[in-house]
Amino acid sequence: MNREDFPMLNQDIIYLDNGATTFKPKCVIDAMNDYYTKYSANAHRGDYDISYKVDVAYENARKNTAKFINAEPEEIVFTSGATDSLNIIANGFFKNILEAGDEVLITLSEHASNVLPWFKLSRDLGINVNYIELDSNLHVTINNVKKAINPRTKVISLAGITNVVGDERPIKEICRLAHDNNIFVVVDGAQSVPHKPTDVKDLDCDFLAFSAHKMMGPTGVGVLYGKRELLETIEPVSLGGGMNESFDSIDEVYLKDIPIRLEAGTQNIAGVIGLSAAIDYIQRIGLDNIDIHEIRLKKYFMEKIKDIKHVHVINEECDSGIIAFTVDDVFPQDVAYYLNKYHICVRAGNHCAKILKNAIGVKNTVRVSLYIYNTESEIDRLVELLSDKMRIIREMI
Ligand code: ALA
Repeated sequence: MNREDFPMLNQDIIYLDNGATTFKPKCVIDAMNDYYTKYSANAHRGDYDISYKVDVAYENARKNTAKFINAEPEEIVFTSGATDSLNIIANGFFKNILEAGDEVLITLSEHASNVLPWFKLSRDLGINVNYIELDSNLHVTINNVKKAINPRTKVISLAGITNVVGDERPIKEICRLAHDNNIFVVVDGAQSVPHKPTDVKDLDCDFLAFSAHKMMGPTGVGVLYGKRELLETIEPVSLGGGMNESFDSIDEVYLKDIPIRLEAGTQNIAGVIGLSAAIDYIQRIGLDNIDIHEIRLKKYFMEKIKDIKHVHVINEECDSGIIAFTVDDVFPQDVAYYLNKYHICVRAGNHCAKILKNAIGVKNTVRVSLYIYNTESEIDRLVELLSDKMRIIREMI
């Protein structure tokens, strides 16, 4: 990986908000530009050369994405992002099989996209949404999952890694336990797939959702993975062109097979091509190397910050590139505002995990989220700026 690969890094900026979105390498931007400038036709509809070229690029992107998570190409549905994927899973699959009194288990540290679709099903169907208790390090343990499940539990829906706490969940063990109890497992992979290797066959999860833009790909495109037999029973929540085989009347509507059946209308073709280029880029670096780099940088930060008593990291024990902290007597937004004066980008607030405050007792935090292009010298600068509380207070306004 070269920092020169990223046009956004050609400016005086320290970008530490990779949990929100990541920078794009030039090869991703070029792949999308190539589509727009050289073969900008629709997919699956044309009978001419450039449309054939689009079909090949689009379906190759599907194969590449499938290989990336060890799925089959038919099990990959392109969506507008992880949020869209999770909503399709809840409304297209679970809405048709859950009944009043059934239970969905989540945790207090889930992102809004893995909470609100279930709250909606609770209102629509009368299902219960309950919470697996987090341990003192804010982790999900298999014992706490065991304690939480009961005969009415039908779904466990968890982030692979959470976006504020940054804890990695034991998804493989959870899937084994869940399946022994006839429970489905949904994984929100938005913060895990870009950072650690994901093998859906090994995990045996039923569904997985993730977004391209958090893994150096474009915004507006994401992936819904589902086991083939489950995807086949999803009721499309969106109907229209491309996904139907034929229709003559209300009673004579015939839909295509998955995955096309779940991709109504013209898709984000440039986005899908960009995602595939991002996957190639990640594969060249190696996900293991990305993971090692982030954890090493986090440890480096922890070592440097340990004597700075006014900074409190809430997730020291979590092995990912996410660091959430507070500064005594300073509002997290004010810390972010102060750092911005020095061109450092961090996120402050509740980070879309609005019920997490019930677990950590703090409503807002400052979040640093790392990726492959971050460096020790960037951490040095961050720590230097955080080290003097009075300077933060003086300069935050
Ligand atoms: N989900 C994104 C984040 O955690 C936006 O910042």
